[in-house]
Order: sequence, then C-alpha cells, then structure tokens
Amino acid sequence: MGFEEFRGLRIAVTPDVLIPRPETEGLVERALELLADRPGALVADIGTGSGAIACALAAARPDLEVLAVDQSLGALAVASDNVRGLGLGSRVRLLAGDLLDPLASLGGSLDMIVANPPYIPSEVIPTLPVEVDALRAAPRPRRRPGRHARPPAHHLPGRGLPPSRGAGS
Ligand SMILES: C[S@@+](CC[C@H](N)C(=O)[O-])C[C@H]1O[C@@H](n2cnc3c(N)ncnc32)[C@H](O)[C@@H]1O
Repeated sequence: MGFEEFRGLRIAVTPDVLIPRPETEGLVERALELLADRPGALVADIGTGSGAIACALAAARPDLEVLAVDQSLGALAVASDNVRGLGLGSRVRLLAGDLLDPLASLGGSLDMIVANPPYIPSEVIPTLPVEVDALRAAPRPRRRPGRHARPPAHHLPGRGLPPSRGAGS
C-alpha cells in the first residue's frame, strides 16, 4: 500500500485502485462550485476507486452526504479504509454495483452525480456505441499518439429533482 495526496488529504492506494490524478482535483473544484447553493446536498461518486473524490467533497463540505459506488470490491475495500481513516464514515456511504444501479431506490433525489470514468484507449473510441462516441464532440486537448483518451468528466446537477431525499438518505 502507498499514499497519495489529493486536495490535502492523505489517500491510501493499492494495486486495486488507480492513483488519484492531480487534474481530478479540478473535478472536485467544479463540483464544489456547482454545489455552493445546495446546502445538505446528496452527491453520488460513480466509480469511486480509492474514494478520493468522495472524501474530498465530504471533507470540503461538512454538510454534504456522498454515496460512493464502485463495481470493484477491491477498490471499495481501499475506499473504506480511506473513508474511515479520514473520519468521514458518517457522511460517505460505499455501495457496490454497476454505475447507478445501487442508487435505484433513491428515486431521483440526488443533487449531483460526479464521475471520473475509466480510460478508453483511443483506438477503441470509434467502435463505441454512438451515445458514447458523441462525447467526442466536446473539445479535447491535443494528445500525443498512443496516449489514452477519456471522455470528459460529468457534473450533472440534479435540476428539477425534488428537494427531499426519500429512501436511502
Ligand atoms: C479511472 S478510475 C477513477 C477512480 C477515482 N474516482 C479517481 O478519480 O481517482 C474508474 C473507477 O471506476 C470503476 N468502474 C468501472 N466501471 C464501473 C461500473 N460499470 N460501475 C461502477 N464502477 C465502475 C473502476 O473499478 C474504477 O475504480
């Protein structure tokens, strides 16, 4: 096991998770901007890995609750260590499953979904379903040949969602 700093937090990492990248701190910054006028928001971090994003959000905003989802039990074990080690266990809940599946019972009461999705090798992108390929419409920085590309991270503020939380909160 090793440790990485992420937004001032000491995040444990193992081979079961990707090392949180400095540019992912930008995703957290943007999420915090969008959440500024949403006290007590409920946020989902999809593909939480080490839990870095979920922990950074919860640490920055003591009023937030975060549901952190990953399909990898190995990753969730690491995330669990980080959540507990940072004293965030009362506000960061870890859920195993595919994408939004573990959140189905919430019935649309999330305020925001954040995700830093897995990398997609450049050569695979043209073979993806059209919905995924559409992400290529977003402007992307020029990349060196052979580097992996990835779709942009998404911040989906839950406009129009009811303010109450319903089940799972
Ligand atoms: C690029 S890593 C991001 C980890 C972390 N959020 C970060 O930014 O450092 C992607 C994570 O998504 C998880 N993942 C991949 N496909 C998934 C799926 N269908 N449902 C849930 N999690 C998934 C992987 O296990 C991995 O931990």
